[in-house]
Amino acid sequence: MEAKSPEEGVCPLRSPPRVKRGLKSLNFLQEPSSVQKDILGNGDAAIGTWMGMRALFIGNQELARDVLVNQGSDYDVSNPPHFKYLLGAENMGLLNEPEHTRIRKFFTPSFTAAKVAEYLPRIEQICEWHAKNWAVEGNIPSWQDRIKLLTFDVICSVVGGFDWNPEELKEMSDAFGVLVAGISFPIPLELFGLTPFGKAMKARRKIAAAIKGKISLIKQGDASSQAKVGLLKEIVVAEIEGKTLSEDELVDNFIGLLIAGHDTTASSLSITLYYLSKTPSMMLLLRKEQNEVVRRFGTAITPSALESMPFTEACLKEGWRLHPVVPVVARSPKTDVALGSYSVKAGQPTFVALSHIAKTDSRWTDGTGNPDPCFDPRRFIGSNGESLEGPALVFGGGNRICLGMLLAMAEAKTVLSVIGRGFTYEIEDGAKISGFPFPTVHMNCNNFRQLVES
Ligand code: HEM
Repeated sequence: MEAKSPEEGVCPLRSPPRVKRGLKSLNFLQEPSSVQKDILGNGDAAIGTWMGMRALFIGNQELARDVLVNQGSDYDVSNPPHFKYLLGAENMGLLNEPEHTRIRKFFTPSFTAAKVAEYLPRIEQICEWHAKNWAVEGNIPSWQDRIKLLTFDVICSVVGGFDWNPEELKEMSDAFGVLVAGISFPIPLELFGLTPFGKAMKARRKIAAAIKGKISLIKQGDASSQAKVGLLKEIVVAEIEGKTLSEDELVDNFIGLLIAGHDTTASSLSITLYYLSKTPSMMLLLRKEQNEVVRRFGTAITPSALESMPFTEACLKEGWRLHPVVPVVARSPKTDVALGSYSVKAGQPTFVALSHIAKTDSRWTDGTGNPDPCFDPRRFIGSNGESLEGPALVFGGGNRICLGMLLAMAEAKTVLSVIGRGFTYEIEDGAKISGFPFPTVHMNCNNFRQLVES
């Protein structure tokens, strides 16, 4: 295979370098950006082992866009084998074409901007309910778990239409926590529920049973379940080309939506809320922007209000810059392909190393290649106050781009708006940031209280 380069005429493609990490490759808990740095070093692509998989890591934006967007249709998805047990074999994120598109079509209409606008009042209501409860408690140990409960509440209500009481909500959120923890144990060995994978599978069966119960109520036309908001009831009965989704397709994709839809958003919020508290000048700018938005649009969170919050949005982007949420997006080429100056064999698992790409972006690295450690969202505001592009490909790309991207942005901005407008809090010293499966600040929140209006 040969590729033309403008300077040198024709130059042969080469195989990507191969990197050995020895025993380190068995440490499934190593922080993803440090794994990616080990493998990629200063290069743009290299083959190394992670999570039991020998994969080609892509560490450069241009190549990443080729894999995900420009040459996206030349690639299948590629995930570690245990994913299909945990997430379900019919999960759209694990399916190749044409099945991926067939399933995704059922869900796409529920995640448009217009649909997200419909969900906004409910999202705002849930955020306020949680914030007011936090204010009653004042001091909240392991605040990250409570943030996760908030995002789980939103996703269960909006996506699932579940009307769980606080105890049930906590029980199901814990079950999801166990299921997600199973992702870090890539050996599909249950051992009577003793391994993290075994525990995750047990949790999955419990969650699947709850979703099946809800589906069955909807199918029987149960009046109370029909009355609830939530897109499950729309999708259970939706038909495309005369066909509805099977029960397995529904369960696997709702488990996928509930996971994809709350851990990622909670991770982003824990990081952003932590840094805002540690940089009071940035918190002040957030409050200033929110006061201005309330003055212009009133207190309700509407699409126009959300669009007029470049600084609030920049706070999220800045969190993603410092701690990228989704560490890798996985693909594999269907045939032998040329990728930049590399030749890549058909079927080669290919990980777009989003963490590394964010950390090494030349917009914020210094002369030694290190990213600016300061939390300063203003870097994402242009000279006319407009929003600038955040870290690359945070939501993936191409025809598999995150389905819930608009919902995630709306929800995260609503949480920051509610807190920025009406509450104050402090983070106790000693907070720790863990990196896997999603970056999360483990923190105790002190003195969470409602601001008194003057
Ligand atoms: C900050 C929050 C979020 C981030 C950073 C995020 C990021 C991502 C990324 C990187 C992908 C992979 C895209 C690719 O393969 O190119 C993805 C896929 C996906 N996300 Fe999100 N996500 C977030 C929130 C959500 C929410 C709220 C939902 C829905 C409720 C959601 C649902 C999905 C689904 C269904 C997929 C699979 C799409 C497909 O394979 O066609 N995500 N997300």
